[in-house]
Amino acid sequence: MCGIVGAVAKDNVVPVLLEGLLRLEYRGYDSAGLVVSNNSLHRVRTTGRVAELVKLVDEQQAEGSAGIAHTRWATHGAPSERNAHPHVSGEETKIAVVHNGIIENHEAMRKRLQADGYEFVSDTDTEVIAHLVAHHLKQTADLLKAVCLSIAELQGAYAIVVMEEVRPDRIIVARNGAPLLLGLGEEGNYAASDASALLKVTRNMIYLEEGDVAELDRDNYRIVNCLNDPLGEPVERAVHESDLSNEAIEMGPYDHFMQKEIFEQPGAVANTLEMVFNAQSISPNLFGSTAEKIFSDTDSLLILACGTSYHAGLVAQYWLETVAGMPCNVEIASEYRYRDPVANPRTLVVGISQSGETADTLAALSYAKKLGHQHSLAICNVAESALIRQTDLRFLTRAGPEIGVASTKAFTTQLASLLLLTVTLAKMRNKLSVEHEQQMIKALRHLPAAVQSSLQVEPEVAVWAERFSEKHHALFLGRGVHYPIAMEGALKLKEISYIHAEAYAAGELKHGPLALVDSEMPVVAIAPNDQLLGKLKSNLQEVHARGGELYVFADADSQIQESENLHVIRLAEHAGLLSPILHTIPLQLLAYHVALNKGTDVDKPRNLAKAVTVE
Ligand code: F6R
Repeated sequence: MCGIVGAVAKDNVVPVLLEGLLRLEYRGYDSAGLVVSNNSLHRVRTTGRVAELVKLVDEQQAEGSAGIAHTRWATHGAPSERNAHPHVSGEETKIAVVHNGIIENHEAMRKRLQADGYEFVSDTDTEVIAHLVAHHLKQTADLLKAVCLSIAELQGAYAIVVMEEVRPDRIIVARNGAPLLLGLGEEGNYAASDASALLKVTRNMIYLEEGDVAELDRDNYRIVNCLNDPLGEPVERAVHESDLSNEAIEMGPYDHFMQKEIFEQPGAVANTLEMVFNAQSISPNLFGSTAEKIFSDTDSLLILACGTSYHAGLVAQYWLETVAGMPCNVEIASEYRYRDPVANPRTLVVGISQSGETADTLAALSYAKKLGHQHSLAICNVAESALIRQTDLRFLTRAGPEIGVASTKAFTTQLASLLLLTVTLAKMRNKLSVEHEQQMIKALRHLPAAVQSSLQVEPEVAVWAERFSEKHHALFLGRGVHYPIAMEGALKLKEISYIHAEAYAAGELKHGPLALVDSEMPVVAIAPNDQLLGKLKSNLQEVHARGGELYVFADADSQIQESENLHVIRLAEHAGLLSPILHTIPLQLLAYHVALNKGTDVDKPRNLAKAVTVE
């Protein structure tokens, strides 16, 4: 999704802006641009990668001690140079704007501004902001006030950074529903949509709140809040020291971030469960100091999430019902937020998100609260995210920054966290004997090694991947808790290899999808040695009998033999509750190798973004 960087410093800010954009690249984008101020506003934009922008900036020798920069993921208007940010307005009062999010009333505003004589040269909603700020600037002659007056008229969720040609020593930023933070440095002050963009220049961050507008110059900053006063009331915001790891974002010896992240999973899971490894028993405090009280008042769970995080929620539903005996609903956040569900105040609402910035998940959680749900828990990978700040309880998946757009290590660490949640709730509801608790702690301690062993199947998976590269469609089958794993496997394959893949609960085959099976349709099956194995084998027979080509990931003890058109890769012996986590790994590897063979952009698949901060 779009990324923002702004800077005012003693020296030329161009290197800071470009470094920031490079660090935001992982979010996904289709054009990039910047404006720096040096007597006049110098704008450079391109539809290419940030590397292309770097080249252009160099050729044009753009420099200045204040600037704003942006990576754009197209929402209004095609990805083109004309639509790339920054957008500018005005002749005498020339200003430039970068913007994340969506302005919902942009059409009405555009008409009004056009009637006032403003000429639009792009298809974006952002250009409305540029003209609106220029319009108010003419009246107030003060950029901060002009921004405050403008945001009072804009509807939607957005973050903006604005600068003015005649005052090249400051930038103004505003947050309203989309993430934005300030970075306070030795050499200057900065703003960005994501802390990782500023790590090279500072770790001292201020997370702006809804309605905050801030003015930054190279030595000072001030923040006002415009929620209750259109001209802004001065507010203080705490400075946090970011502990994001700098090195975690380097690719190291790997060819792709996704590959790196797949192979980092043993360590990521170990970091996530670290507190359990040294513990003699499992404590609710792992989820927050008030977790014990909240969990004892909880009689059911409602999980809200999108995409891969939603699949993690579906797995958790099986665990919570089976192990903790707790009713659990799992909802796609973008659907939940527009339904009229009946709230139960004793239901704990759980938001699962890698980024913690997914607009639908955040909105669904707020909606659940509004409906009367009292308590919420975030399972999230970004400590400094909106989701973490929005819930009473939180558990951090310590996967480290996930750069590849296709989620891998975030998913398995979410599953590890949700298993821990299940065990904690089971214990509190007397569903777990002391002996069983000890077995669970032992199993969780073994998880990193078990994940490592699943990674060993890579060479065999790579051979299978060659056969998939020619295909246009694939089916994924699973049963029980492994059905959501089949869904995750299909999602991974389609998003990075562009092969159309669908997952079915294997028992559903004969109710329709079996009609699709022929020798051209590879069918991937997850065959753990669990209580549903017998049923699954019958479903596989149905495929085999119709000439389908089966690719089965089986447990070592699943006793499925290779035969013509039935290929088997064996993992370790059945791992009980850990099994869905371990069966995820070969599916990630399959998608990765198919994408490699097809030569797609593994880390930045077309049309997708890492943090989906718009609805
Ligand atoms: C798929 C993928 C997406 C995300 C979804 C939610 O590989 O990454 O489906 O899972 O956009 O994102 P988060 O977890 O950041 O809320």
